[in-house]
Amino acid sequence: MKPLFSSFLFVAAALALAAAASTGTDPGISFEYHRYDELRKALVSVWLQCPTITRIYTIGESFEGRELLVLEMSDNPGTHEPGEPEFKYIANMHGNEAVGRELVIYLAQYLCNQYQQGNDSIIELIHNTRIHLMPSMNPDGFEKAASQPGEIKDWFVGRSNAQGVDLNRNFPDLDRIVYINEREGGANNHLLQNMKKALAPETKAVIHWIMDIPFVLSANLHGGDVVANYPYDETRSESAHEYSASPDDVMFKSLARAYSMFNPVMSDPHRPPCRKNDDDSSFKDGITNGGAWYSVPGGMQDFNYLSSNCFEITLELSCDKFPNEEMLKNYWEQNRDSLVNYIEQTHRGVKGFVRDLQGGPISNATISVEGIDHDITTAKDGDYWRLLAPGNYKVAASAPGFLTVIKKVAVPYSPATRRATEEKQDRTDHVSGCQSEGRSENMELGIFPESERLNTMTAGEQQRLIKEVDFELESQMERKEEEREELMDWWKMMSETLNF
Ligand SMILES: *[C@@H]1O[C@H](CO)[C@@H](O)[C@H](O)[C@H]1NC(C)=O
Ligand SMILES: *[C@@H]1O[C@H](CO)[C@@H](O)[C@H](O)[C@H]1NC(C)=O
Ligand SMILES: [Zn+2]
Repeated sequence: MKPLFSSFLFVAAALALAAAASTGTDPGISFEYHRYDELRKALVSVWLQCPTITRIYTIGESFEGRELLVLEMSDNPGTHEPGEPEFKYIANMHGNEAVGRELVIYLAQYLCNQYQQGNDSIIELIHNTRIHLMPSMNPDGFEKAASQPGEIKDWFVGRSNAQGVDLNRNFPDLDRIVYINEREGGANNHLLQNMKKALAPETKAVIHWIMDIPFVLSANLHGGDVVANYPYDETRSESAHEYSASPDDVMFKSLARAYSMFNPVMSDPHRPPCRKNDDDSSFKDGITNGGAWYSVPGGMQDFNYLSSNCFEITLELSCDKFPNEEMLKNYWEQNRDSLVNYIEQTHRGVKGFVRDLQGGPISNATISVEGIDHDITTAKDGDYWRLLAPGNYKVAASAPGFLTVIKKVAVPYSPATRRATEEKQDRTDHVSGCQSEGRSENMELGIFPESERLNTMTAGEQQRLIKEVDFELESQMERKEEEREELMDWWKMMSETLNF
């Protein structure tokens, strides 16, 4: 991850800045396509405009040698702050699916603008989250798609990387490992092993990125349909369509809904399918389980969940993969609130530190939740983030050589869910009175009784809703020492009593 500075970029960026149009509802954003050089310039001009909260880096190169660029936004660019969660958006993995690429650029410009204008919730978000934005995972494919003449682009040209590899089928297929482990016993997390699969350079770079940074939440932006898709993508039986729940099904549905509910097109129950013969029967509230829609082996979404602590969903943003430029502003307006709200989901569930009795961090400790067969692990500083839907849980922290500690945790209603709930309630008023129905079902639907709705929370209050739970683990050595001391005390007492 080398920093990317060059005087060429400086000059180019200054020119880009000067040329930036400022019209419409989001001044400072020019709604146009960015070819590779323009993308670089756009990111650099965000960096020049907001230098204290941004950094540009590259995670590697595409097959044809284009940089896989990332813009980071954080109050401390370049460093992981202990306790602060990390988030990523990856777009344009299929090079011909161009809307996500542009939306990620506009998002960077929007966040920088809003931060400078003093928007409290954006400031709070950037101060409490380390956000990584990758507009294109497949810059070679995009150039190929974009260089087709005329406005109508072929449905497939540019989808794969320059070697002809579909990157969203190129990740190690960890679903097959976890499905075997479910039956025969075995690990339920961090399943990456040397799988001898020929990996494209883009895939390899992203795998290293996922391994290097303790990401908590992520989304992978695609096009060709309009839905928020959640794990698992690959079916257990290897059939083409089958609901394939992950252990975190409840949370994943809630995350997908946190995106779809703020997008009026995606969440519209009357939206016709993109094409007359499309099978959208698995779509509900603008979300779908991946396997229920169609099985995808070797995808990036499930790889994130099964190889690391990161939860990822896949967003399909537009029926057209490469729409006319005039449509881009429209797509931005449909997705802007969803894009921001989804990042806020990083602050849900339980987070904290696992330390030993001397206060030293315990990294790679296991955090497990009773009833959810998917553990996560602590990062280098002993910090952890466990995304959880509202409810009561038993959370255990364990590490080799230490005694396990279990705590009861009540995860509160998150503000983001609340807001989505209000929107939903407006449309389904008749359901909102059903307080007698099972609470867990209501929770899953994102429908809460009136009394639990909160309209007037500041961003600061929102951030504090995440439950902070620290664990102190006693090592087995310390326990043995304690037991020895107790025994000594007992002997002393006995010998005094009996006057040895
Ligand atoms: C601040 O940002 C939020 C999130 O994008 C947005 O909903 C809100 O309208 C912004 N506030 C102002 C005053 O622009
Ligand atoms: C992390 O902990 C697990 C389980 O205790 C262990 O199998 C694994 O080797 C550890 N990994 C590292 C990098 O220490
Ligand atoms: Zn795609």
